[in-house]
Amino acid sequence: MKFHIMTLFPQIIEAYMSESIMKKAEEKGNIEYKTWNIRDYSESKHKKVDDYPYGGGAGMVMTPQPIVSCYNAVVDDLDASLKQEKKPKVIYLTPKGKVFNNDMATALAKEESLILLCGHYEGVDQRVIDLIVDEEISIGDYVLTGGELPALILIDSISRHVKGVLGHEESLEEESFTNGLLEYPHYTRPEVFMEKEVPKVLLSGHHKNIESWRKLESIKLTMKLRPDLFDYEALSKEDKKLLKK
Ligand code: ADE
Repeated sequence: MKFHIMTLFPQIIEAYMSESIMKKAEEKGNIEYKTWNIRDYSESKHKKVDDYPYGGGAGMVMTPQPIVSCYNAVVDDLDASLKQEKKPKVIYLTPKGKVFNNDMATALAKEESLILLCGHYEGVDQRVIDLIVDEEISIGDYVLTGGELPALILIDSISRHVKGVLGHEESLEEESFTNGLLEYPHYTRPEVFMEKEVPKVLLSGHHKNIESWRKLESIKLTMKLRPDLFDYEALSKEDKKLLKK
């Protein structure tokens, strides 16, 4: 999976990508990324990238020329096969977009490459969206100062679904949202901490009981914390039985 990130602040992207799991994923060759500084493509004398909105109003709007020229440079840089047959999806990060979730991360992880466009100020000129954007994605119902954090959130959550990135893919099957439930609570040593004990069943070595306990905790947690996610009818017969006990 290769991410192309079009941004006015490549260092924000580089800083996050050069640490921890993202760094390892790149070193192992599971993911690749390249930042593209939109300002480098401005044809104006002072490398201007924004201007006042037509019709008036507060704030500035990102002008179309530097973004579209930057996009053309990204496309020129693609492998020949991608250039001709399956141009990567262009995703614009915006609070007006479809709200991102785990299913979208799983689906996008199947793409060979993605182009992420980070906005700033009041956003980009609508013609950029009309001309080059395939999908508009928001990371939640709040407004940030720019699209870099949202782009990183997409990169991180999509990369976790790329083979080899986690090195323990089975954890993807158990984690929150995978089966419409929040993940069960975790415990590690010590067995007693500030008088609080690890649930006995986890020390029993009885795999079937541990599995049932975890499932029930997942269900109870989802009902309590995320009733909007919970769907009783989607539970299996066995899970419904567990809940009745
Ligand atoms: N840019 C600013 N706010 C955003 C949000 N909530 N999601 C995606 N991009 C954004």
